[in-house]
Parts: sequence; structure tokens; C-alpha cells
Amino acid sequence: MKATAKAHTNIALIKYWGKRNESIILPTNNSLSLTLDGFYTTTTVAFDDSLSEDRFKLDNQLIAGDQYNRVTAFLELIRKMAGKHIYADVESVNDVPTAAGFASSASGFAALAAAGTKAIGLNLTNQELSQLTRQGSGSACRSIYGGFAEWEMGTKEDGSDSYAVPIAPADHWDIRVAAVVLSSTKKKVSSRTGMKRTVETSPFFQGWIDSIPNDLTQIKHGIQDRDFQKVGEIAEANCLKMHATTLGANPPFTYWHDTTLAVMQTIQEMRAQGIPAYFTIDAGPNVKVLYLPEHEKNVEQTLINLPGVSDIRLSKPGQGVTYL
Ligand code: PMV
Repeated sequence: MKATAKAHTNIALIKYWGKRNESIILPTNNSLSLTLDGFYTTTTVAFDDSLSEDRFKLDNQLIAGDQYNRVTAFLELIRKMAGKHIYADVESVNDVPTAAGFASSASGFAALAAAGTKAIGLNLTNQELSQLTRQGSGSACRSIYGGFAEWEMGTKEDGSDSYAVPIAPADHWDIRVAAVVLSSTKKKVSSRTGMKRTVETSPFFQGWIDSIPNDLTQIKHGIQDRDFQKVGEIAEANCLKMHATTLGANPPFTYWHDTTLAVMQTIQEMRAQGIPAYFTIDAGPNVKVLYLPEHEKNVEQTLINLPGVSDIRLSKPGQGVTYL
């Protein structure tokens, strides 16, 4: 009753921003992401009759508190599905540098769902696995697939039609992502708090929701045609719209720092000089930059020389969940 799985994190090009159901995590809009090979979590789950509670080790450290509670609540979902009441030993290793500003929860919950269901003897389809993973962390449901994936919000209130579907595999298009690591990353509003406050108070929220269907249709055409300018322009604009909703919230907030803005401006200047590069930003100050392989040197050099930037982590499209 033991299994090991590996899952990569993903970067949203069309953002998930807003929940319609917080307890089983149902979103207010579809989202679309690219899975990244550079950042991943490897998790082993072993169900064991002799345990009297779950145990969770992350990077070789025993975890208690909130992080433990989220893991054990998720294991409870797996136990319920399998109809078996056995506790588990969970060991996770993160290859997602926290400094890079990626939420390791995406790769973490995807790997936990895959290893946990396999270990307990469930043989889920990717769709079922994505639907389950969603309940651990929303954005994680897209990490079941490699390459480009879309999370369909669904319409049912039980969540049975809310899961990710593959759009194009990792080898469809060699598009690159640079994670720009900033030297100072002050405390942020969590994505959960940020979404909730935005949904409940921002007058810009409805505009955000209304703009999603067209962004999705257009970006999917762009991905199919490998049209970098189209994909980059839509992703960058979609990110700016998401962040605009936070300025309209009450109390207002932003995830941006001064260096965040400096990186954004630098990318726009690079474009003016003929280097196609676009940015996107999640619920934090770090910036992710989309570019094509032939511009890698240029993008890397330009960004690493900016004041306030401490590191650049480069990534290619990554694979979906794998079992080791
Ligand atoms: O799944 P969460 O709770 O980590 O929320 C992710 C929200 C964003 O990263 C801002 C957007 C996204 O779609 O990943």
C-alpha cells in the first residue's frame, strides 16, 4: 500500500481568481496554465495499519499545524473514496525553490493525490484525479497534465464537472518561462484571502469574469497556432486584469512591489526593442517572463542586471503526473 508520484508546478496564463464554493473549491471562472519542468514535488504515500494518525514529512522535517491539517484533510477524501480507514505516512520532497515565488501547493497536492490514490488501490482516470486534486488546492488540478491545461469550472454544485483537461502536450511548443526572484519579498495576502476579498468587495470583479471567455478562446487559438505574440499579449493582459481587481477591493491591496513594476517595465521596453517577451504575475510580487528559446540569453542577462533582482530560474514545458 505504498506509491510514489512526481508532479510539476504550473503557471497560469489565464488566471483562476475567485471561488464560488470555498469548501470544495469551485472557481468562478475557467483558467489555463502551462506545466513547468523546472519545479516539482516528489511524494511517497504508505498506508499502514499500525499507524494511529497520519504523518507528514516535508523535505525530511516532520510537519504539524496548518500544513499538516491540509494534508490529513486531503487524505481523508482519499480514504472516503476507497472506503478504507487506514492512516498514512507521507514523505514529500519539494524541488520548488520557495524564493522563485511558485506555490508549491500545486505540485504538492497533485503529487499527493496521485501517490495517495495509487497507494490505497484506487485506479483513477486523469479526470477523476484532477477533480480530487482540485479539493486540495485549486490550481493543482491543472498539474495532473503536462504542457497546456484548462481547468473547466463546471456548473454543478457537487463539483463533479470541475476538473482540468489537456489542451496541448509539453512537446507541442518549446515556449520558456523565466521566474524572476526578487531580493525582498514582504508578507503577502494569501491567494485564499485575496480571492475572497475580491469576490466580495471589488466592483471590478464582474468585469474580470466577463472578460474571461474571449481571452480563453483567443489564447487557445494562439497555442494551437504557436503564435507567441498572441499568447503573450493575452496572458499579460489577463494578468493585469486580475491584479486590477485587487485595487478595487475593500480594503484595497496589491501583490506588487517596486521591483515588480521595474521588471514589468523592462519587459515592455525589451519588446519595444524587438525582443518578444511577456510577463505574468500570481498572488505575490515575483514576475514570470514568457519568451522563446532563441531569446533566452538576452532575457536572462537583462533581468539579472536589474536592481532588486536576486536570481533567475529558467524552465521549459513540463510533463504531467508520473509514478516512480
Ligand atoms: O490554487 P491557489 O489557491 O494557490 O490559487 C492560485 C491563484 C493564482 O496563482 C493567482 C492564479 C492561478 O490560476 O494559478
